[in-house]
Amino acid sequence: MSLLIKNGRIITAEHDYIADVFVEKDTITLIGKDLSMQADTVLDAKGKYVIPGGIDVHTHLDMPFGGTTSSDDFETGTRAAAFGGTTTIVDFATQAKGTRMRDALDIWWKKAEGKATIDYGFHMIVTDLPDAHMEDMTELVREGISSFKLFMAYPNVLLVDDATIFKAMRHTASTGALVCMHAENGNVIDVAVQKALAEGKRAPIYHALTRATTAEGEAVNRSIALAEMAGAPVYIVHLSSNDALEKITEARDRGIPAFAETCPQYLFLSLDDMGKPGFEDAKLVFTPPLREKWNQEKLWGGLRRNALQIVSTDHCPFCFHEQKELGIGDFTKIPNGGPGIEHRMQLIHDGGVNEKRITLNRWIELTSTTPAKMFGMFPKKGTIAVGSDADIVLWDPEKEFTISAHTHHMRVDYSMFEGKKVKGNVDTVISRGEIIVKDNEFHGKAGRGNYLKRSTYGAAWW
Ligand code: URP
Ligand code: ZN
Ligand code: ZN
Repeated sequence: MSLLIKNGRIITAEHDYIADVFVEKDTITLIGKDLSMQADTVLDAKGKYVIPGGIDVHTHLDMPFGGTTSSDDFETGTRAAAFGGTTTIVDFATQAKGTRMRDALDIWWKKAEGKATIDYGFHMIVTDLPDAHMEDMTELVREGISSFKLFMAYPNVLLVDDATIFKAMRHTASTGALVCMHAENGNVIDVAVQKALAEGKRAPIYHALTRATTAEGEAVNRSIALAEMAGAPVYIVHLSSNDALEKITEARDRGIPAFAETCPQYLFLSLDDMGKPGFEDAKLVFTPPLREKWNQEKLWGGLRRNALQIVSTDHCPFCFHEQKELGIGDFTKIPNGGPGIEHRMQLIHDGGVNEKRITLNRWIELTSTTPAKMFGMFPKKGTIAVGSDADIVLWDPEKEFTISAHTHHMRVDYSMFEGKKVKGNVDTVISRGEIIVKDNEFHGKAGRGNYLKRSTYGAAWW
């Protein structure tokens, strides 16, 4: 099987040039001007960008959470990702308290097997780390799980204490793996939550109003301090506020290997989008919550100057009907999470590149190249180069569309970005040399996605 992509504008994190790309089986084997070899399939990419497939390193597919399970499984979620130009995900396996991490890995492998339509890796959510089981982390790194998420939020569910975080970080310092932190002071937030409930404040917006940005800033600062003491790097997930950004910036200015991602919801939505009548705000209940609007430009600034290195989605969809509705009358019972896996590339292209907040190269760096480097997949993934996997998106920068639950492919009954118009969209998506999306039709098959045994993170690039 061979594929020749002609006349496209190749855009990577570093380059921007017109050339042809030749793919044999699943790999890019030649890039050059006016290539004339025979190929089984020839695609004309004139007027289009030829970009590496998007990499979303923060998804929750088929995840039990908040008394229910996220509504996209590995088939529907990865299909939706592909429609949006994402060809690799790193999802979160969750260790159930009192069990071994290895058990969780086996469970998540089964969830993905026979279903995933694009390549996938896993992080491990650590809920329990007795000294006798520390070596489980080493075993997981050998299996390609080179990142571990720990929570400072969700008391009695996922929250672990500082000693556990410190021990995990000390361990990753020795293996080269990376600790990913959900940084919010969950115990303090819980005091505010209990007070709100006692005062009869039970509507969805109180989820946001009880989670101060200072609680995020404090936890980011504490994560960094713990990482410094452990001699380990740290990666803050779903950073949402300027308070938190300032802490990351301060650490990086001191040369500390502290990294962070943000997500489209924090760049495009704010508290101004809440305050709707009835239970509608539940659609925007996720953690950390939406912030005051002025934080958005600060986050864009962070992305521009590399205080933030990655945009992921934290895709964790729950249907409004029957799932979000579990929290009618009590915001603490609303399953936390929102759908986003399908529109990350378009939103960041539109709000970033079209609005001149970031360059085209930076768009690719934030959504594909740095995710691959940070999470041990580069240069197999994350670039257009000879020897790399042929995960390629032909992107039409002029194609306009309106985001809507009526047309999206995620298995969820609403969109966080309903009615938002964007310019720039997928034309064709190729995963390991196979065309899986073309003309808005899906051509991939459930189960074709491969598990990615990731190597350890690449701090060398910073
Ligand atoms: O609200 C969210 N973010 N749900 C998913 C779990 C997490 O904290 O990432
Ligand atoms: Zn989280
Ligand atoms: Zn998450």
